[in-house]
Amino acid sequence: MKVNGTPYRSLWWDAEKDALQIIDQRWLPHDFRTQSVETLQDFADAIVQMRVRGAPLIGATAAYGMALAMRLDPTDAHMKTVWDFLHNTRPTAINLRWALNRCQAALLPVPEADRASAALALAHEIADEDVEINRQIGLNGLQLIQDIAAKKPDGEPVRLLTHCNAGWIATVDWGTATSPMYHAHDAGIALHVWVDETRPRNQGALTSWELGSHGIAHTYITDNAGGHLMQHGQVDLVITGTDRTTRRGDVCNKIGTYLKALAAHDNGVPFYVALPSPTIDWTVSDGIAEIPIEDRGSREITHIMGRNDMGEISEVQVTPDGTTGGNPAFDVTPNRLVTGLITERGICDASEDALTALFPDLCG
Ligand code: MRU
Repeated sequence: MKVNGTPYRSLWWDAEKDALQIIDQRWLPHDFRTQSVETLQDFADAIVQMRVRGAPLIGATAAYGMALAMRLDPTDAHMKTVWDFLHNTRPTAINLRWALNRCQAALLPVPEADRASAALALAHEIADEDVEINRQIGLNGLQLIQDIAAKKPDGEPVRLLTHCNAGWIATVDWGTATSPMYHAHDAGIALHVWVDETRPRNQGALTSWELGSHGIAHTYITDNAGGHLMQHGQVDLVITGTDRTTRRGDVCNKIGTYLKALAAHDNGVPFYVALPSPTIDWTVSDGIAEIPIEDRGSREITHIMGRNDMGEISEVQVTPDGTTGGNPAFDVTPNRLVTGLITERGICDASEDALTALFPDLCG
């Protein structure tokens, strides 16, 4: 996607610097800063501090981390150490484990002398695949939006609601939940997107930045507004992303997604989840019981980052001194509340039968 007219991916390889480049998302939407990621500690910090974030982007970043590891020391022992080191950065998004496992499985049979180049080629492949998966999700989701648009009077926008940022900067490109929106907008369908703020880190502001840059009409709303809007017929379709979806279709995503699904269910609003196949955890069925939920600590709740009228970016405290914030970063929406899953291979029910029928080669 474009930033100020220049096409970007959320990460890219700089051949001159011989290093991975990322967008440091901590400064968005206020400032666009990029960073060279050059040590294994840089990789871990980038993921832990959410300079890179979003399940697919975390996975792709980890693959580049493994490529650096193989350049530094291509032994099996080092591969295992770095697998653990990177895997311990964030616990919920399954794409991290998926990417590290894929690297390990591909690299173990490769002679040590060839591992560095093989690992870098594989990281590029994973990044390119992510772009194509998300493009396909967009084309499949476009059909849903077209169907809704076809039933509306001419010129009336399809009204979507999304939570968090499942946009292009949460992936390598296109985004998952936003890809159908980009495709629909580019196909000339009128859209309006309700963008959930998504406290505590306000990833909704990232979604607003993305949609605004692409000319898509949207309104930034508090996390508590969605239910009200649905009760009043203001939402035609909800599309969110996911950090881990179980084999039976339970969806783990940013905290607050579950409440949106409940409100959608109560109001007969279709609730879809954009799901790239690397985000399916085939080893887990019951998402509520089995998915580890990241706790990101008190400070993200008690403080908030913003820009003042002077253009200065800083953090301010929003609670009284001494207040402790509780910060579960994700929740699980049970499959019964999910209308459908938009995958790169098509749209399916949130059920084990449907997922295994669509991905017989992956489900194990
Ligand atoms: O904590 P974050 O910002 O990494 O959480 C991101 C989300 O919850 C996204 O919705 C999810 O990763 C899907 S991104 C395509």
